[in-house]
Amino acid sequence: MKVLVVGGGGREHAIVRTAARAASVQEVICAPGNAGIAEEARCLDLDPHDAGEIVHAATAESAGLVIVGPEAPLVEGAVDALEAEGIPAFGPGAEAARLEGSKLHAKELMAEAGVPTASHVVLRSRREAIEHISCASYPAVLKADGLAAGKGVIICATEADARDAAAVFFEERRFGDTEVVLEEFLEGEELSLLALCDGENVLPLAPAQDYKRIGDGDEGPNTGGMGSYSPVPGFDPDEVERLTDQVHRPVVAAMAGRGTPYRGVLYAGLMLTPDGVRVLEFNCRFGDPETQAVLPRLRSDLVELCLASRQPGGLAGTEARFEDDWAVTIVLASAGYPASSSKGDEITGLDRAAAIEGVEVFHAGTARSGDAIVTAGGRVLNVTGIGADPAEARQRAYDAADLIDFEGKQMRSDIAARAVERVVG
Ligand code: AMP
Ligand code: GLY
Repeated sequence: MKVLVVGGGGREHAIVRTAARAASVQEVICAPGNAGIAEEARCLDLDPHDAGEIVHAATAESAGLVIVGPEAPLVEGAVDALEAEGIPAFGPGAEAARLEGSKLHAKELMAEAGVPTASHVVLRSRREAIEHISCASYPAVLKADGLAAGKGVIICATEADARDAAAVFFEERRFGDTEVVLEEFLEGEELSLLALCDGENVLPLAPAQDYKRIGDGDEGPNTGGMGSYSPVPGFDPDEVERLTDQVHRPVVAAMAGRGTPYRGVLYAGLMLTPDGVRVLEFNCRFGDPETQAVLPRLRSDLVELCLASRQPGGLAGTEARFEDDWAVTIVLASAGYPASSSKGDEITGLDRAAAIEGVEVFHAGTARSGDAIVTAGGRVLNVTGIGADPAEARQRAYDAADLIDFEGKQMRSDIAARAVERVVG
């Protein structure tokens, strides 16, 4: 079978590499891919936002499965368009993907399903914002309703900050003509819990932790994610099942009840507060960079699982098995990220890094320029170290990440330090 992976970041590189290991797969194709993906899969130059182009490519290639990586094509209906032409596609349809596409919709669904989340009010206009901001308690959080590439969340320490944030949403219109959620600030540790869903059943994947801020010690602005690790100390399979019962299963049941069954990956961003778990957000896809730490540990056949999740009840009796090891992923970002990014700088040391035992290098924002591989985006590379314990995995990841160089390279030095402390001491 041929598998077509849509997207071109580090997550898609990890999906391409994992799909290539599947027993039934003859060839993996990626669209549009990047310089690293192109070394292991044929890449097609198409616009992932154009569902017509995706359907055309999948038909021309007789793809037996299309895996859609990023949220935007999912929310725009890529899976509906593929399935309408009889092409098996992994991911939710547009209606189900609104769980990520609209924070208000997600809040409504959680209320209906009895899933714990931060309390909130909706701000529909600047006038409503001013009214609610003056009586909120602080810190508080303002979020754009729609997709904002991880940038639409502003944490406000004070009422004055919230007024400034309201101006960003309602005057500057940085995130377009969107409604805004004002929600309670939650404190605790974050956990990314991804699960495969078939509209009825929920099969949790190994838990992961993501590092959202640019700087060590969680300082500085939010990013798309600067590192991750998996599994997470304290979250054994029983605890993961318990969280899935509280969060994913009620949502999947509520969506089935509404006639919009959820199929694909349901990613819950959780805050583990002293009062119990709360959902921060849902994503309708694999997380980035969590996937680069989770999929290298997967021992089950990813393609079989993706195909099973398309059928109502198809995941019943299946298993997502993981190696009993640890993975730590370091993100290497370009100069200026997250405010801006630098392009065209030559990257060196890739082969030496990948040659280290237990290391996998995934490309995110890279491009080829003649014989060289150059930077082509904010998050450039993801370096995953795999080891018997978090210390070994972390050491391998950093040894490899240190060998890679490009102008203005940024990386955090504390990824998984907490896991090492907890497990190894
Ligand atoms: P989201 O895109 O909604 O997951 O928000 C991005 C990041 O902002 C989260 O991973 C948290 O670090 C932070 N965040 C979002 N909502 C809250 C909240 N209610 N309380 C505290 N931090 C939050
Ligand atoms: N790692 C966060 C995300 O994928 O949205």
